[in-house]
Amino acid sequence: MKAIRLLAAKEIFDLVRDDLALVEQELARESATAFAPVSEISGYLLGGGGKRLRPALMLLAAGYTGYRGRGTIRLAAVVEMIHTATLVHDDVIDGADTRRGRPSANAKWGNHRSVLAGDWLYMQAFQMALGERNFRILDILIDLTQKMVEGELLQLARIGHSNVTEKDALEMAAYKTACLFSGCARLGAVLGGVSEAEEQRLAEYGHCSGMAFQLVDDLLDFTASAEQLGKPVLSDLKEGKVTLPLIYAMENGNRDARELVEKVLLEKEFLSVRPETIVALVRDSGALDRARKLAHDYARRAKDCLNGNDTEHGRALRTVPDFILEREN
Ligand code: IPE
Ligand code: IPE
Ligand code: MG
Ligand code: MG
Repeated sequence: MKAIRLLAAKEIFDLVRDDLALVEQELARESATAFAPVSEISGYLLGGGGKRLRPALMLLAAGYTGYRGRGTIRLAAVVEMIHTATLVHDDVIDGADTRRGRPSANAKWGNHRSVLAGDWLYMQAFQMALGERNFRILDILIDLTQKMVEGELLQLARIGHSNVTEKDALEMAAYKTACLFSGCARLGAVLGGVSEAEEQRLAEYGHCSGMAFQLVDDLLDFTASAEQLGKPVLSDLKEGKVTLPLIYAMENGNRDARELVEKVLLEKEFLSVRPETIVALVRDSGALDRARKLAHDYARRAKDCLNGNDTEHGRALRTVPDFILEREN
């Protein structure tokens, strides 16, 4: 499995490695020249790792459409900055202490400064995007950013509730995560000036990849180790989030399941219920397998959008869903 994982990552990232290095320079430059209290936070976050999956996706999508112009690097930096701003705000909202294996911005600098730094980063990202002088690009970026905020608001309304449905969970994943993936792929299409139908297919590819990504992220919360995740395991439930594996476990008819979940939601920590009990619950009820199957379905749908295109960018884009699934292994 390790070998496959390396292969998938290699195919994706090798093709855009040089461009990603330029994106990294652009990010470092933007961060260094930011307003000082922001600069410290953004430098810390951008220096803390991160897979750079969204810029990679944008670069690959642009390459797939045959675009070889200069706009890609800046826009790839833009999507990573929007992602970073979202994570800063998300950790404030979730009260998360850890991000990318290190103390989160809010843990280090407090909520107030983190919120303002996130705001600043959003605006800086839009200012950079404005440099393209392309309203379609701004339209896409504004739409996806608003949708991500809507996703966080939807989630906020459901925090602490055990009656979240599969439909709710998929809606939240679409808004808070898949929107950005879809937008990255669509930006590539817009740069390449492809037909509307082709743009739609790429956007759908991004959407399905993003859905698979969020479902795998939800699974990892139950199946991975804290070192792998760079954050504590089972943190979703502690944060009051009932994700798909738990929804399935409660649906699959185990009468104790809902009671156990509600107890943790009420206590907001593993006090009278042990984490192992919850892990056993999602595993033994078949809920993990069911959620995993759905992630695989989305990954396949993503690949189907590419119509078997056999260019090197086509092949690399087809590998992205594999990479997303392999995160679990
Ligand atoms: C984390 O995204 C946020 C989610 C959508 C779950 P990533 O796992 O891509 O974060 P980094 O950038 O690699 O740290
Ligand atoms: C991820 O949300 C951040 C966004 C996509 C807005 P989560 O709260 O579910 O993810 P992690 O676990 O903090 O990365
Ligand atoms: Mg979070
Ligand atoms: Mg969150």
